Amino acid sequence: MINPVYSPASDRYENGIRYRRCGRSGVLLPEIALGLWHNFGDVNPLANSFRMAHYAFDHGIVHFDLANNYGPSYGSAEETFGQIMRKSFAPFRDELFISSKAGYDMWPGPYGEWGSRKYLMASLDQSLKRMNLEYVDLFYSHRYDPSTPLEETMQALVDIVRMGKALYVGISNYPAEAAAFAYQYLKNRDVPCLLYQGRYNILNREPEHQGILDQAQENGVGFIAFSPLAQGLLTNRYLNGVPADSRMAQEKFLKSSALTPEMHAALLKLNDLAARRGQSLAQMALAWCLKDQKVCSVIIGASRVEQIADNLKAIENTAFSPEELDAITACVL
Ligand SMILES: NC(=O)c1ccc[n+]([C@@H]2O[C@H](COP(=O)([O-])OP(=O)(O)OC[C@H]3O[C@@H](n4cnc5c(N)ncnc54)[C@H](OP(=O)(O)O)[C@@H]3O)[C@@H](O)[C@H]2O)c1
Repeated sequence: MINPVYSPASDRYENGIRYRRCGRSGVLLPEIALGLWHNFGDVNPLANSFRMAHYAFDHGIVHFDLANNYGPSYGSAEETFGQIMRKSFAPFRDELFISSKAGYDMWPGPYGEWGSRKYLMASLDQSLKRMNLEYVDLFYSHRYDPSTPLEETMQALVDIVRMGKALYVGISNYPAEAAAFAYQYLKNRDVPCLLYQGRYNILNREPEHQGILDQAQENGVGFIAFSPLAQGLLTNRYLNGVPADSRMAQEKFLKSSALTPEMHAALLKLNDLAARRGQSLAQMALAWCLKDQKVCSVIIGASRVEQIADNLKAIENTAFSPEELDAITACVL
């Protein structure tokens, strides 16, 4: 049977999604974005990748987050997204906000990682080809490179915008001092930094403690949280062991050593708190990030449509009482 042509849900902007302004910019982003780090590679069933992308867009998730080396294999998540663009999303390009990044290892030799102009320019060209795009909405320097002058990395971002290959630029995983320099450098060249992308969740509050959230706000830069579910720890996935089809079972990016007896006990307590709020643990974890207006959006990962559906309901209640916040903090001390 031939797959029917994709036609998005006509109520995709009215069925619950909400948008937040990204720093001091004209861009609104959905409170929940979909990341393609896992489950969109060439090792994953293509039909499932299509299903998840369709479901997301059908529910107003217009922001898809990629990077050059997402897969596995490296580049294959962008290739999968390129197929989704070609077969499904092409007529809706102007409704989409697509990001990619370069910074981590991508190809061998001295020009395949970090922050040189040589690497960033070549990598973005490759990403555009893989994704069947003329431009990305946002291009990130994926990590701070202590060996390359930051002026070189930032000027590459400026020139990428001037060349029309990205509409906006951002930084990810930068220490506060380097972020301060980046914000100033980009602002001085009229290419303001749109987003800081950092890991932020109930188990990892570094962006709060290191002043990254406040610094972004002061500079008119949006903050977008990645791994808001701590790669799945902050869900019902590991409450009763390690399922064979889970990320932890792969023992790669999320190791079973993270599930100590103390962590397991904390997750059970958090799950109880979530139930008292009428939420799943995943919903409470996302709501916890979104309670703060300094967080513009959370980028979730998913291995199936049902997880996206569960996560979208987080938006229904993002308010916490001081007692609830204290109880959550007490669980993870
Ligand atoms: N800038 C960076 O350096 C950086 C680093 C990491 C991630 N990111 C971005 O952030 C995105 C998200 O990262 P992440 O995948 O680590 O995010 P995450 O949302 O913390 O974890 C996603 C995983 O949690 C599980 N899950 C999700 N919803 C669930 C639900 N409702 N119930 C049960 N389990 C659920 C799934 O695990 P299973 O697969 O086991 O089902 C899913 O793969 C990435 O795709 C990428 O775009 C950026």
